[in-house]
Amino acid sequence: MKTRTDLLNHLAAKHNLKRYLEIGVQDVNQNFNNIQCELKRGVDPNQVGRPDKDGCVIIHTTSDDYFKQHSELFGNETYDLIFIDGLHTAEQVQKDFQNALKCLSTNGFIVLHDCNPLKEEHTIVPRPTERGHWNGDVYKFACELGLYFEKFNVVDIDNGCGVWNWAGMDIQKDSDGWDGTWNHFDQNRKKLLNLISWDEFIGTNPHL
Ligand SMILES: C[S@@+](CC[C@H](N)C(=O)[O-])C[C@H]1O[C@@H](n2cnc3c(N)ncnc32)[C@H](O)[C@@H]1O
Repeated sequence: MKTRTDLLNHLAAKHNLKRYLEIGVQDVNQNFNNIQCELKRGVDPNQVGRPDKDGCVIIHTTSDDYFKQHSELFGNETYDLIFIDGLHTAEQVQKDFQNALKCLSTNGFIVLHDCNPLKEEHTIVPRPTERGHWNGDVYKFACELGLYFEKFNVVDIDNGCGVWNWAGMDIQKDSDGWDGTWNHFDQNRKKLLNLISWDEFIGTNPHL
């Protein structure tokens, strides 16, 4: 079964993406240490484990705080691949996305995790319990991107990985919109998210 790590490494290899930023790292051994990029940065107030190589830095704070300090910490460093997987609310993900755009390189990609929740009970905000499966309501922001950009695609793996890059920036989709309800999302997710399979992602989408 393909994972977010496979998707991130596919993009990195295909587009020669060298500088990686992960928002929300948790345990480095799950994803961060398995990303094949030369330079890696991470942000997470509660991260555990040691980064796999010299030069990797993980900042122990929230994404809002990190983006405020970015230039102080890393000057005008930009990233080719930014993975947003921190606090899973639509509001926070939108902020993370907007901040990520400011330090995304000109051929850069942003990947959003948890865009395709399977059950409404996994989307309740605020998170009802510390444990158990939770996607949050990231899908609401993913729908906005999906409705607006024809070239924003959610790949149907690992809770849904949304992929955005500058190539899709100018393209506005002609769309009927979303009524904001779970049922409408559930019945129209393919169209709302521009949902594609892994095979479509690696095969037929030249911009991805
Ligand atoms: C789902 S985990 C990340 C998993 C990891 N990206 C992976 O692929 O294995 C979410 C992480 O986001 C962190 N987090 C929560 N709120 C955050 C925030 N405001 N800014 C950055 N990270 C946050 C949590 O501490 C948690 O470790």
